[in-house]
Amino acid sequence: MERLVLGQDVRVTDKKGKHRKMTHRDLLEILLKVPKTKEGKYRGFVSLQLPGKSLGPLRFFGVRDDDPNDIVPHEHRRDLRGYYVFCAWLDHDDSRAINTKDMLVEENGVKYVRHNLIDFGATLGSSTSRPNSPRAGGEYLFSWGPALKEIVSLGLWVPHWALAKYPNYPSIGKIEADVFDPEHWYPEYPNPAFENRLPDDEFWAAKQVMAFTDDQIRAIVKTGQLSDPDAEQYLVDCLIRRRDKIGKAFFAEVLPLDRFSVRDGELVFEDLAKKHGMGATAPLKVSWSRFDNETEKKTPLSDATSFAIPKEAFNHQDTAYYAADVSPDGDTRRMITVYVRAQGQGQPQVVGIDRSW
Ligand SMILES: Nc1ncnc2c1ncn2[C@@H]1O[C@H](COP(=O)(O)OP(=O)(O)OP(=O)(O)O)[C@@H](O)[C@H]1O
Ligand SMILES: [Mg+2]
Repeated sequence: MERLVLGQDVRVTDKKGKHRKMTHRDLLEILLKVPKTKEGKYRGFVSLQLPGKSLGPLRFFGVRDDDPNDIVPHEHRRDLRGYYVFCAWLDHDDSRAINTKDMLVEENGVKYVRHNLIDFGATLGSSTSRPNSPRAGGEYLFSWGPALKEIVSLGLWVPHWALAKYPNYPSIGKIEADVFDPEHWYPEYPNPAFENRLPDDEFWAAKQVMAFTDDQIRAIVKTGQLSDPDAEQYLVDCLIRRRDKIGKAFFAEVLPLDRFSVRDGELVFEDLAKKHGMGATAPLKVSWSRFDNETEKKTPLSDATSFAIPKEAFNHQDTAYYAADVSPDGDTRRMITVYVRAQGQGQPQVVGIDRSW
């Protein structure tokens, strides 16, 4: 405590709303409220000061009316909808607007708003200064449905999160992988972007979660310098198992093919289920159409039923578009439509992908 020295230009806004120089007494008042160890040590979080001018938190709905670049309502943004999956993986239940920060930054003379996520103190089983509640991640902080069910059933109905068992690792808190259900995970407060998420948002995020290898997860957890090797091992196992549950749940909703491109006149792709050892995809069916980019009308090419780009695509002077509908045999629900643009003699290019479910 005595070793903490306040910088000359540190300022606070006091209880009366007055902006003034921070004093040692202000610091003392903060530290009196936070836990310390028997030896009188405090545990703190430090992060690099974000560059730029603070514009306050972002919102998980609507657009910023002071930012002309902000044109997609936030509840429909892929990154914010998909953020649900990353939060579920890491049990980041405090992932609300207050823990984000928009900054006005300048690059090569151009100013723009950069969105930042901050405050990961309540992740991985922690609730910042104590273990997370076992209820966290299982339901919202305030939710009528489960409360009503418990009252009406006189306590006989048990929510799924109450069945979780946690080993006693004080350095970790409460995170587990047995009852974790990636499709029914909840942050503390309802989030409009999370609630609007669709299977393709979940797939987008799940493929990034699945891209972390076991070794990478091990190396990341090691940077936490947990003094108990059993706790470290437990956290590694939890993250690997939660990752795999995410892959299993969200790769099943859509056709998990990715990275489409054209190589040697053929449409090629990566089968993510196969790549991650999650079973082979059923044999695929392909059908090609000419695609009118103005009217979005498809004209089927009855003899084009392989991954080879239709021959006529190579004989165009003007730009022409083609659409390949790819689906597992007998399951047209999980379809991917890949749009290809052909121009002159050059190699046709993949220009768009639509997924359905
Ligand atoms: N890296 C950073 N750069 C600039 N400002 C930051 C940074 N980290 C945090 N802040 C500011 O400090 C505030 C509190 O940070 P943080 O959310 O990490 O702590 P907290 O204890 O959870 O506080 P709160 O309860 O307000 O969320 C943030 O709202 C933000 O304004
Ligand atoms: Mg915070």
